[in-house]
Amino acid sequence: MKKTILSGIQATGNLTLGNYLGAIHNWIKMQDEYDCYYMIADLHSLTVRNDPEILCKRAMQVLAIYVAAGLDPEKNTIFLQSQVDAHVKLNWILNCYTYMGELNRMTQFKDKSAKHADNINSGLFTYPVLMAADILVYNADLVPVGEDQRQHLEITRDIAERFNSIYGETFVIPEAFISEQGARIMGLQEPTAKMSKSTTNLNDVIFLNDDPEEIRKKLKKAVTDSENCVRYDKENKPGVSNLMTIYGLIQEKTMEQIEQEFAGKGYGDFKMAVAEAIIEKLESLQKRYNELLENPEELKAIYEKGAKKASQRADKIVNEVYRKVGLIL
Ligand code: TRP
Repeated sequence: MKKTILSGIQATGNLTLGNYLGAIHNWIKMQDEYDCYYMIADLHSLTVRNDPEILCKRAMQVLAIYVAAGLDPEKNTIFLQSQVDAHVKLNWILNCYTYMGELNRMTQFKDKSAKHADNINSGLFTYPVLMAADILVYNADLVPVGEDQRQHLEITRDIAERFNSIYGETFVIPEAFISEQGARIMGLQEPTAKMSKSTTNLNDVIFLNDDPEEIRKKLKKAVTDSENCVRYDKENKPGVSNLMTIYGLIQEKTMEQIEQEFAGKGYGDFKMAVAEAIIEKLESLQKRYNELLENPEELKAIYEKGAKKASQRADKIVNEVYRKVGLIL
């Protein structure tokens, strides 16, 4: 039997090259080997204020990116989190097996409540419990996520183990699946912080819908250092190392190969090579993305089929949980 994978991206903000190389790019490689569930975490997006029209537009954009990037809706189950009721059912149950003290330790909660001091809602606080439900409701074995989600995976495992120890073997204990290279694509201006779709410095981020001119411009402005030598050294040369990571992932080259390729060349040449690699990679993705957004029926067929398939599996697990805790079905 194939192992099960689940992951998701929030429907907040424009997706970036970081989302693509750090997540979707890896997912594509898994679609044959694993039974994959990829969702758009639209319920999680409600933990911050959103314009309703923009939220549903964003959800469709994330879906279109998944498909345009090469996730095959026949091979993978692609769906909207809000359309599979089992997630919220399990969420409530798991809330009752999660301690306030555990949630209080979550660094993302601390960061987000600092950022949204006027709206520290309880959804933001219990965000990791919904995420645990997302994962456990499929009994996922592996969860490909970025480094920043590691703590959420740990609490998911703790909740699952706690439940299992009370009610007997119910949940598979999931593992984080963090690919070394793509796990963290950093900002172009601030290469010590993750490339983030919610930044205010637009030169820091490549969006997946940036046009070639924008990409060239942003790469030209990317922060490097004064050594003028393409050499991987994350500590001392975070900017150049980040560009090398991006280039390596797209071209499937190792850091040594890149160092050789650009030996004796300056940062100007290197930056333009990175820009052209990104532009080429995004060209077909953008074409398919635009086609899909102009064809909402095609997207609808994909998410409807996905929700149905996802529900079939998730309902079974949630029913078992209901029974175990003593609810009448
Ligand atoms: N919290 C994740 C993020 O911001 C998104 C997410 C929600 C997720 N539910 C998930 C990721 C379940 C993996 C599994 O990146």
